[in-house]
Amino acid sequence: MAKPRVTFVCQSCGAVSPRWQGRCDACGAWNSLVEEGGATGIGAAVARKTRKGRLFALEGLAAVGQEPPRTAVGIAELDRVTGGGFVPGSVILLGGEPGIGKSTLLIQACAKLAEAGTRVAYISGEEAVAQVRLRARRLGLAGAPVELAAATGVEDIVATLDDGEPFGLVVIDSIQTMWTDSVEAAPGTVSQVRGAAQSLIRLAKTSGACVILVGHVTKDGQIAGPRVVEHMVDAVVSFEGDAGHQFRILRALKNRFGPTDEIGVFEMTGQGLAEVSNPSAFFLSGRDASAPGAAVFAGMEGSRPVLSEFQALVAPTSLGTPRRAVVGWDSNRLSMIIAVLEAHAGVRLGGHDVYLNVAGGLKVNEPAADLAAAAALVSSLTGATLPSNTVYFGEIGLSGAVRPVTHAAARLKEAVKLGFAGAVAPADTAQPGIGTPVAHIGAMVAEIAAAGVAQQGDTASHRSQSRRMRKPDALES
Ligand code: TYD
Ligand code: MG
Repeated sequence: MAKPRVTFVCQSCGAVSPRWQGRCDACGAWNSLVEEGGATGIGAAVARKTRKGRLFALEGLAAVGQEPPRTAVGIAELDRVTGGGFVPGSVILLGGEPGIGKSTLLIQACAKLAEAGTRVAYISGEEAVAQVRLRARRLGLAGAPVELAAATGVEDIVATLDDGEPFGLVVIDSIQTMWTDSVEAAPGTVSQVRGAAQSLIRLAKTSGACVILVGHVTKDGQIAGPRVVEHMVDAVVSFEGDAGHQFRILRALKNRFGPTDEIGVFEMTGQGLAEVSNPSAFFLSGRDASAPGAAVFAGMEGSRPVLSEFQALVAPTSLGTPRRAVVGWDSNRLSMIIAVLEAHAGVRLGGHDVYLNVAGGLKVNEPAADLAAAAALVSSLTGATLPSNTVYFGEIGLSGAVRPVTHAAARLKEAVKLGFAGAVAPADTAQPGIGTPVAHIGAMVAEIAAAGVAQQGDTASHRSQSRRMRKPDALES
């Protein structure tokens, strides 16, 4: 009998190596190689006798013209992200950090669907049935006809779910706790996770159930272990949020049956996850419009406009190298904006610490936020309060030119809806009535500085207040 071949599989990318190494050759991860029996990873040679293939029919494109049928859950923020509901026979991977609310969201979705008459199974590999039940009771969902089980053996799960009337939705919480007999490796390893996922995907395709796999996320935001699973499933959805904030964002990263640029916004409350149907109002709540250094950014999250507040604090530094710290935005972009402000608008920030924060814990990754960030910086530096009823958006080029951005009309519409009367925007997107077109960053800086001087004049009689205003000495005249 041939000796079983031992291979080492990288737990972060799935590459196979014949011997142990400290660092994976394929992805460069350290200490990620784990011994797994049998050749199962990517690149493993499969030495099997080939059989003669059976023939199958090929079909034309036109025959499958209709939209795939969908089961809408009735939670609008969730349905938006999936593209209108769950597609039967599809598999969704839901990733997120521990404690973010994946299990809560799914038990709520299960209860909703079960109450609407769909057969729903919730298989927990992490919690006992009593714990799941307790949570459901706390959420007021104890009456929903969801079928619960605590199980980790994939063969048992597949056999159980294949029995009787077909299921419409199956939740597996989580894929890392599942193990299959067909793979000789420890639970949680790449081979096990991949093997278990394969069996569950097959279950979805044969039974027509929509299967949701919960996946853990590592510190750097990757779905832990098997990126390979991401390729196998139909949709990858991530549930994000900040432990210090109540809101959660559901984001589609991959979707074979819908758009990938949609987000769903939820708020974690004592009664579980509540939908936030107006995220702009949510992110702007508690705003202090009278403080310098705050600019409202009219952003886009997918096809949806979302307003958020950029806050900047610019203070003289006591260090040799000034600090630049960003929360919720790209720090490279901040460095670029600071450089452009210095080079093309005469704003000296070299002797100042700069802190930039997107209020509410939102993460913005649009270049369109450049103008809002610049406005907040200049406002904080000069002590000039920005007009509270104005939004900012526009990309700043290295020459200082303000470049147009997509979805300008949608951004302006959302701003008007929330009671904003002005918008500082790229020249050819600003619309009559609301927009103040800016073609170059220098023009905006000059305007803010002038407003600052006017405000200082206003407050000169109020001694106590004028102490807060600093002369815009860092601005070149
Ligand atoms: P959970 O769904 O267990 O997270 P995950 O499955 O992603 O690990 O959510 C756990 C957190 O959510 C926990 O810290 C408590 C909080 N929570 C609430 O604030 N309100 C609620 O109604 C529930 C059920 C949970
Ligand atoms: Mg959980």
